[in-house]
Amino acid sequence: MTSGPTREPLDPVRFLTNASSGRMGAALATALLRRGARVVMVAGPGASVPRGARAVPVVTALQMHRRTLEESRRADVVIAAAAVGDWRFARVASRKIKRKGGGLTVRLLENPDIVAAVARARKAGRPFVVGFALETHDWIAHARSKLARKGLDLVVANKASVLASDRTRVALVSADSARVLPPMSKNAAARAVVARVEEMLRERL
Ligand code: C5P
Repeated sequence: MTSGPTREPLDPVRFLTNASSGRMGAALATALLRRGARVVMVAGPGASVPRGARAVPVVTALQMHRRTLEESRRADVVIAAAAVGDWRFARVASRKIKRKGGGLTVRLLENPDIVAAVARARKAGRPFVVGFALETHDWIAHARSKLARKGLDLVVANKASVLASDRTRVALVSADSARVLPPMSKNAAARAVVARVEEMLRERL
């Protein structure tokens, strides 16, 4: 799984990141470990990795992309819970950038979509790929289009405003069903996600 934010350097002391706490990722890892899974967590800065999971620490989205594709070759299930930064700086200065008056113009490049790349690299339907969708409105419709566009097996739709909270509202969206769950703790939501993954894997046997 992936978890946490990513961090894109501008120079040796400045960076672009986001407010992901990595709490949902940690809750998922714990739920997976409880079900007897071996868990590898490709973890962005500050993401907590529960004892029992193997940590693959990364900083940038490009690092997360490379390490996740490597690890996912051996995985049965990939869960992309990271809040991957959409952009990185086109140029990273090797020295601290000095103020000169007149502001600073920077160019951003789009980062690769990691979970879509994992889904594209699947062989014979393996691994099973789960993504997240954080939405403010039309969350089921957006989750469905994300499922199709990225080629995922399951999308966990999240109502926005839960990024730094312990409670969450999720819907589990697959090609043929959408299950809207009541508000619950991130730990309970993580257990529900893992139960749904197990159920879908069993249906495939
Ligand atoms: O496209 P959006 O960012 O809304 O999709 C969210 C889902 O895609 C999450 O599962 C996230 O981990 C994953 N993602 C990714 N690589 C990106 C952007 C998002 O794996 N560059």
